[in-house]
Amino acid sequence: MHINPIQLFDAESSTYTYILAAANGEAAIIDPVDRHCERDLAHLRRLGLRLAYALETHAHADHVTSSGRLRELTGALACAPSGCGIAPADRQLEDGELVRFGDEQITVLHTPGHTAGSVSFLWRGNLFTGDTLLIDGCGRTDFQGGSAGALYDSVHARLFTLPDATRVWPGHDYRGQSVSTIGWEKRHNARLAGRGREDFIALMAALDLPQPKLIDVAVPANRRLGLAHAA
Ligand code: FE2
Repeated sequence: MHINPIQLFDAESSTYTYILAAANGEAAIIDPVDRHCERDLAHLRRLGLRLAYALETHAHADHVTSSGRLRELTGALACAPSGCGIAPADRQLEDGELVRFGDEQITVLHTPGHTAGSVSFLWRGNLFTGDTLLIDGCGRTDFQGGSAGALYDSVHARLFTLPDATRVWPGHDYRGQSVSTIGWEKRHNARLAGRGREDFIALMAALDLPQPKLIDVAVPANRRLGLAHAA
């Protein structure tokens, strides 16, 4: 058993994928990326792990998931947040739900804002925030039902109320940072620390970001778990 998650990186989209392992050899993977399916399977083989679950934090706009393919190849169950329109998932995750594998459990926290359905996952004091909370930043809030006000509330009411020592494992990082803590982000996050709700909403509205290059391809593909056709 590893008490830390195994963190894997996709350099094209700066996406982090995480593997969590239980003592009995069962594992869960969070936000796997299509082009790294073989790499991720090789990690599981090398570590003698059986994949029980593939979990999505949301329907991504910047890369395509390998959850559907991993399900085919390993028999893992695909789990997606109920509010993300990912119909072929084996489980539609609701706020507060537990995903159990071996002696381990992952708690689902609905943290809307980046997208309406976005969730974070909590496991052994490790928080996997998807694009809700990034290290010294946060995900954009201008598409897929995104809402700056909802993101602010999710972070302040749900995430910043967790213990300061909770480790923050983001869905992306663009500057080579790999892990942070709730205490650090509460005090130093450039967008969220010490900023009022209206100020944050105005800041997000002023970002004026270009559409992600892959959004028209990636979101529909991710709603099929990355498979060419609905499973
Ligand atoms: Fe995203």
